[in-house]
Formats: sequence, C-alpha cells, structure tokens
Amino acid sequence: MTRILAPLGILAELTHRCPLQCGYCSNPLELLKANRELSTGDWISTFRQAASLGVLQVHLSGGEPTLRKDLDQIIACLAENGIYSNLITAGVSFSREDLSRFRQAGLDHIQISFQGALPETTELVGHLKGAHEKKRAAAGWAVDLGLPLTINAPIHKLNIHEVPDFVALALELGAERLEIANVQYYGWAHLNRAALLPSYDAVMAQVEYVHDIRERLTGILNIDFVTPDYYADYPKPCMGGWGADAMAITPDGQVLPCHAAQTISSLTFDRVTEKSLSEIWHHSDAFNRYRGDSWMPETCRSCERKDIDFGGCRCQAFAVTGSAAETDPACIKSPYHAHLRKMPAEGPIQRRVIGKSPQPA
Ligand code: SF4
Ligand code: FES
Repeated sequence: MTRILAPLGILAELTHRCPLQCGYCSNPLELLKANRELSTGDWISTFRQAASLGVLQVHLSGGEPTLRKDLDQIIACLAENGIYSNLITAGVSFSREDLSRFRQAGLDHIQISFQGALPETTELVGHLKGAHEKKRAAAGWAVDLGLPLTINAPIHKLNIHEVPDFVALALELGAERLEIANVQYYGWAHLNRAALLPSYDAVMAQVEYVHDIRERLTGILNIDFVTPDYYADYPKPCMGGWGADAMAITPDGQVLPCHAAQTISSLTFDRVTEKSLSEIWHHSDAFNRYRGDSWMPETCRSCERKDIDFGGCRCQAFAVTGSAAETDPACIKSPYHAHLRKMPAEGPIQRRVIGKSPQPA
C-alpha cells in the first residue's frame, strides 16, 4: 500500500481567459469560459482547506490570473493562512497600482513569461501587439515594489536561438531567477508539436550553453532548466511522482494530480464543489491510479531508476502511446522511444483561442 504524504503545493488555474494566444499552452484544448469559473467563495474555502492539509505554496496561474477581479481577496486569503503565493502571469493586463495592491494583499513572488527575448518574437508567439514593452514595464514595477522576480522563457523552435538573449534580458530586468523551460508537449503544445519541436542539434547546443552560463552566473542569477526530454535517454521525474506532493485545480474546480492530467481521457476528476480537498487528495481514483509503483509495467517496476524518475510522465505516455500506464516514451527502455523522435518536422501553428475548436493535428 502506498503511503500518502501531505501535499505541499497547488497550481491554481484561476481562469482560462488570456490576452495571449500562445500555441505552446499546456491548457486543455477545450478552454472554459468565464461563466464556468469557481466563485471567490469557492477558492477561499479551497485554500483554507489546503492550509489545513499542509499546503505551503500556491501558484496562481491560468490562463491569465490577473483577469480575475477578486485576485486581491484570493491573495489575502493565502497570506492569512500562511501560504506562500506566486503569481504566474503574462504581465500585460495589469497596472502598477494593481500590482501594488497585490503586494499589499500579501503576494510573495511574481513570475512573468516572455514569449521571446526580442519584441518581434514575443509578438509573433503571443499574438499581441506591444506585449514585450508591457512585460518589461511589469517586471520593472515588480522590482520597484520589492517582489522577487522570475522570468519564465518557454523554449521551442521559434525562439531557441534567443536563449542567450533571454539570459541578458533577465539580468537587465533585475530578475532573481530565470526559468528556461523547454516546452512540454501536452494540450495545445501537443497539437502544435510539429511547428514547435526544435531540432536535435539546436537542443544540444542549448544544453551546452545553459550548463556553461549557469556556472558562470552562479551567485548572480539562478537559472532553472527544464530540459527537452524528447531527445533525452531517460524521462524527467514528472511532478516528483504522481499524487506525491502536488496538485492542480482547474478554473471550474476539478482537482488534478498534474496540470496536464485532463489530456488523459481515461481519467475522471473530483471537484472541490462536491468533495473536500482532503477526501480528493487521499481517496480519488485519479490520484490513486498512478501513485506508488503497483501500476507500473514490468520495465519500470524492475528498474533501478524507478525511485528517481517514477516511470516518467503519465501525460506524455498517454499522448504518445494512448495509455497512461505505459513507460514514458522518453525512456530509452520504452518500445515507443524511437517513435518519439520521429515526429513531423514542420506544420502550421494553431492559436489558443477560447470558443474556437482546434483542428486535429
Ligand atoms: Fe524510469 Fe521506467 Fe525508464 Fe526505468 S524503465 S528509467 S523507471 S521510465
Ligand atoms: Fe502530467 Fe507529466 S505532465 S504527469
């Protein structure tokens, strides 16, 4: 029987609404409109329960979380309950006054995404004119207000050549941390993977550069590197193991073991409006299905790395093989490993828009 520990973190997707239309988004293809979102009271009740369960940090995400009119109240609730709050934002839809209010309500940290290190790339990928300058301004306000700042750089074929520029940008903006996050191919990113997946050579050059610059900037800028596992030999320890210490909550209150778990169509999820968070964490089928190692295929169960990567990513296994109970195809021991590298090299990009049905890839 798998021992269930307390959850430490929650990714709270407050809304799917977003001013950008990035084709690499990990949100599900079916995006929710505002009328399906949880109420302020639902979120506050959920976060109070989270604090009792032992949750230490909440990442406020989306979509674009600052489009919620009640964000101050939500942040204040987290602060009152001793939970560290991180705002994950595109940085284009709030003013300096708004950010100052969030800070006063108790916001602890802000992460601003840049779709490119250069203005034209940011506009091309996010499809919003003037977005780059707005993001730069938002980063400046954050530093002025004393908010620790992380710059998030989602990397794919259209911007992988800008990785050194992202480092320069993070230094210029006074960020404490730069997250160079190679896109993971779920949701919209999976639909658009032919248009987004960089070449093997570009990825290898990036890996070499990041390892070198990370060392040279030790003590100046923390660089987190989310590696591109399509070209790796072993998978990442996704989520630190399924249902191990984190969960995600969708705008309409479904509680997921991982932010991309809705892409696994064989799972159903409980809602915070119907069950307590504790009951869901401990007893829901979606959380227990891939906890521990009893679900693992023999390849993983008998493998010396199973306590290092926990069999890899369930969402990637499902996306590539059609079964979430398979060994992650990023693993060299998976029979689907070669298949992962045979993805189509080119393709059109479909923009993430609420209410518009995407075409199958
Ligand atoms: Fe990880 Fe499973 Fe591959 Fe072993 S066989 S390295 S546990 S994914
Ligand atoms: Fe869902 Fe890896 S993204 S388990």
